[in-house]
Amino acid sequence: MTRSVKKRLGLMLCLIVMVFTVSGCGHKGRSNNDTIKIGVCVYDQYDTFLTQLINSFDAEVENDVLVEYVYASQNQSTQNDQVQSMIEKGVDVLCVNLVDRTAPTTIIDLARKNDVPIIFFNRELVEEDLMQWSKLYYVGADAYESGTLQGEIAAKECKKNMDKIDANGDGVIQYVVLEGEAGHQDSIVRTEYSVNTMIEKGVSVEKVGYAIANWNRSQAQTKMAQLIEKNGNEIELVLANNDDMALGAVDAYGAAGYPAERRPAIFGIDGTDIGLNAVADGTILGTVYNDKEGQAKAMYGIAVALAKGESVDGFGLTDGKYIRLPYTIVDSSNVDEFLK
Ligand code: GAL
Repeated sequence: MTRSVKKRLGLMLCLIVMVFTVSGCGHKGRSNNDTIKIGVCVYDQYDTFLTQLINSFDAEVENDVLVEYVYASQNQSTQNDQVQSMIEKGVDVLCVNLVDRTAPTTIIDLARKNDVPIIFFNRELVEEDLMQWSKLYYVGADAYESGTLQGEIAAKECKKNMDKIDANGDGVIQYVVLEGEAGHQDSIVRTEYSVNTMIEKGVSVEKVGYAIANWNRSQAQTKMAQLIEKNGNEIELVLANNDDMALGAVDAYGAAGYPAERRPAIFGIDGTDIGLNAVADGTILGTVYNDKEGQAKAMYGIAVALAKGESVDGFGLTDGKYIRLPYTIVDSSNVDEFLK
């Protein structure tokens, strides 16, 4: 083989490897020796809030950083395999949104064995698990705060418009709760704190039903349709653990032929684009903004610092481990500030 043929073959091989690395694996950015590699593992690809959180994260990514995103279709053993394969590919740091927040040990063991730090996000593992290794962190928000704030908006609306919301005029608000996944910290805590806050604020309430709808709009529509079937006009208020389920409730009332003025007061949490628009047009009365941009920025900043072997002290981590971004109430009075 002549020298020029060898050189051309070498160049072709190099190009093939580059194409595989940059586009074949779904990576973002360029690959060279200085490139930071971040692996991001998400519990499911069909979750509205997480899709927007990941979009915000992606918007942070700079040119010399390569990010691979994988989705586990709600299966923890799939996610364990994805983590293993990311580590084998040589990621510097992992961001993990656990499928089962009570089962992080396989992932933690893999990461520790290979010295790859992990930033867990959104689905909060228990403190003992986060303490298993010094290079584990959590970025999210305070579930108690979201429940409390939802209860505050609901109580405020009830006081302002009691005549309208208390449709049967008995002085008590008959309500239902649409819950997220069973066992998820946000479902458990939001459900409890939103209702307790309404009571603390002096609203008399009576629970007439609840349903688990796994954060999902169409599941919420189906479950809400059953609740309407069973309770008819009795339901005066709906507390949904997130915006998608609040909108599922709206869909159910639409499908059941209820005109806007005969529907209950409906409240969500998240402030997703679709949730904010629903507040703006009055379809739902309020939501609680879950600061995806702040969470994405914190995750990205910490991930890059860890990948470079730098200190993360400047990020204001609580107990050296936690970042929790604050929630904010959104109703008709301030929704415009949140809409882009
Ligand atoms: C919650 C969010 C839900 C859903 C869930 C997934 O914080 O409010 O909409 O995205 O996380 O873990």
